[in-house]
Amino acid sequence: MARKLSLLAQHMANALPHSLLNGAIVPTNDARISPLDRGFLFGDGIYEVVPVYAGKPLRLTAHFDRLQDGLDALEIANPYSRARWAELVHELIASNGGGDMGVYLEVSRGAGKGRDFLPEPDMQPTVFGFCFPITPPKPELLARGIAAATLEDIRWQRCDIKSIALVGPVMLKMEAKRRGADEAILVRGERLAEGSSSAVFVVKNGRIATPPASHERLPSITRLVVGDVLDALKLPLEVREVRRGELPAADEIWIASSTREALPVTSLDGKAVGEGGPGPVWRRVFDEFQALKQREAG
Ligand code: PDD
Repeated sequence: MARKLSLLAQHMANALPHSLLNGAIVPTNDARISPLDRGFLFGDGIYEVVPVYAGKPLRLTAHFDRLQDGLDALEIANPYSRARWAELVHELIASNGGGDMGVYLEVSRGAGKGRDFLPEPDMQPTVFGFCFPITPPKPELLARGIAAATLEDIRWQRCDIKSIALVGPVMLKMEAKRRGADEAILVRGERLAEGSSSAVFVVKNGRIATPPASHERLPSITRLVVGDVLDALKLPLEVREVRRGELPAADEIWIASSTREALPVTSLDGKAVGEGGPGPVWRRVFDEFQALKQREAG
């Protein structure tokens, strides 16, 4: 189990040298914001994580759409036009040398004069962006899959908003780690919600299912990509609520996210999923996912 954790730990990567702060590219180590920033005091902001392959962001428009939805929900005015955002993201990627990386973007409501729950009028949002390397999953990881733990979802009721207030998932990840798992698969009572930082798919008797969009889960962009991959493979996807009881009985479970693509969960709560190795449907999805990356961003 410890070995599995160490494999995943390789995905954690330090920030690259150049960051975006309020419209300028700056050395990451010199980037400074006010301690009165509402992102810091209240978790009052929105973020995005965009995967970049060969210097090209994957599904950037979908990420910008979700960013806008989050800003609208929080009533924060978007400081930039789409065109300006795209320019800044490309500058940020180029400043860090292109290649494969993740781009983190955050918009907080900005710094106030003090600490008042109600925002001051006409606040200037703070925009911060940084990059971190992403590497393709190691062959060992692909051969073995990851371990997950089923945990009750302790997060709030608006998980569709990509809020920077992430203490819920932080606590859940720590609990998953204590249980020897790399990811927490979250349930609300008898219903599958999502992973603590991923979308979830289950396969039973060749039928693939994932839960629908709702306030209980983030509208994952990678889930859309996996949907396109399944279309290309002519494999139907059932979008429906998944019951907790289906998880231990599944032939395959996958998690999907912008930083991890689609990975097979081969052990759940210490018990083998299906045959205990990455399943054949996941393997086809993985291969087609690589082809899609190549087509769209390669
Ligand atoms: N998290 N659900 C949750 C709760 C998430 O945090 C994420 C991603 C996903 C998958 O969304 P997407 O396919 O758009 O990455 C689902 C990112 C990667 C993060 O917080 O680092």
